[in-house]
Amino acid sequence: MKTNGYQKPATIAAQSLGWIDEATRAVSPPLHASSTYIRDPDNQYRSGRDYIRADNPAFDQPEAVLAALEGGAGAMLYASGMAAATSVFFSLKPGDHVVAPKVMYWGLRNWLMTYATEWGLQVELVEMSDLAATKEAVRKGKTKLVWVESPANPMWGITDLAAVAEIAHAAGARVAADSTVATPVLTRPIEHGADLVMHSATKYLNGHSDIIAGALVTREDDEFWRRLKMLRAQMGATLGSFESWLLLRGMRTLYPRVTTACANAMVLAERLSANPHVAEVLYPGLETFAGHDIAARQMSGGFGGMLSIRVKGGEPAAIATAANVEIWKRATSLGGTESLIEHRASVEGPDSPCPPDLLRLSAGIEDADDLIADLEQALASARQ
Ligand SMILES: Cc1ncc(COP(=O)(O)O)c(C=O)c1O
Repeated sequence: MKTNGYQKPATIAAQSLGWIDEATRAVSPPLHASSTYIRDPDNQYRSGRDYIRADNPAFDQPEAVLAALEGGAGAMLYASGMAAATSVFFSLKPGDHVVAPKVMYWGLRNWLMTYATEWGLQVELVEMSDLAATKEAVRKGKTKLVWVESPANPMWGITDLAAVAEIAHAAGARVAADSTVATPVLTRPIEHGADLVMHSATKYLNGHSDIIAGALVTREDDEFWRRLKMLRAQMGATLGSFESWLLLRGMRTLYPRVTTACANAMVLAERLSANPHVAEVLYPGLETFAGHDIAARQMSGGFGGMLSIRVKGGEPAAIATAANVEIWKRATSLGGTESLIEHRASVEGPDSPCPPDLLRLSAGIEDADDLIADLEQALASARQ
C-alpha cells in the first residue's frame, strides 16, 4: 500500500496521506459529483472510469487512507455498514456454511438468521470466546467464512482474533472481522490473521453522526476481492460522492477522537463500577472483565469508547435512567463526538441475548466530569 513515505497511522489519518490536488494545489480534495465519464473518440475509457456505480474518484483517497490504516492491500467504500457486511455473505454461494458469533451486532445477526438463511447459507452461531466450541463449529472444506466482531455489541465480548483465524484457516475458511468498535486505532485485525475487515463507517471512522457509510478492507488483492468489487458495482451498494468526501474529512480526526473516547470510557467504567445503582459494568478495560487479558494483548492505545451498564432494578430502572439524562443523548448508533445512551433490548427485540437491564453507552469526546455527573444524577433519580 502506497503511504507517501508516511509511517505513523495518526499522521496518515490527519493528512489523508498528504495528498495535494494537482489542479489547484488544494490540501483538501475537490468534491467529485459526476455520475459519468467521457469516452475517448476511439471508443476507449483511458481514464479508467466510466460510470459512478463501479468507481468514483471520491473513493480514491478515503479507500487509500483506510487501507493504509488497516495494513491492507485495498479498501472499498459501501453505502452502509450493512451493505459492506451483506456483500461479503452474498459473495458466497447458496449451501456454503458460515460461522458467526452468538452475540454480535443484532442487525447483521438478524439478517443472517432470516434472509441469508432463506437465500441458502448455512449459518451457525457460536460463543466465540469458547475456542473449543468454535473449532467444533468450523467444518473443513464446508465452512467458507468465519465472521468475528471484537469488541462485540452490546456486551463487548472479546474474540481472540489470531486463535480464531488459525482455526478458520486450518479448515480452509476466510475470516472477516467487524472492527467498527475497535477501529484501526486500537486493533488491526489483518495483523492478527483476518482476511477481511469490515466497518460501519457511520460510526468512528466518520465520527460526527452525519453520514451512513460502510467499508471493507482486504489482506490481499485476490480473486475473492475482485468478486466483491464486481458485486459492489452490480448490486449498486456504492457510497455517494458527498458521503465519501465527508468520510475522508472525518477520518482526519480519527486518532484524537478515538483516544479521547477511550479515556472517557475508562473513567466512566471505573466510576460506574462504584455506583450503588449499577449491578455490573461491561467494559474490556476493566481487569475484572472476562476477555480483558486478550483485549490487553490484542488492542493498543485503549479498550474502546463503548461500554454497557446493567442497572439495579431491572428494565424499568434502566429505561428510567435513560429518560433522566440531560447531557447524554438518548439515541441509537455509536462512535460520534457526542455521548449516546440506549436501552438496547428495546432495539434488539425478544430473541436478543441482550439483558433487559442493560444500557449501552457510547462515550463521546466531551468532558468526562460532565458525562459522569449526568449519569450519576440520572441513575439516582431513576430509583426515587
Ligand atoms: C458493530 C456494527 N456493525 C455493523 C453495523 C451496521 O452499520 P450501518 O448502520 O452503517 O449499516 C453497525 C451499526 O449499528 C454496528 O454497530
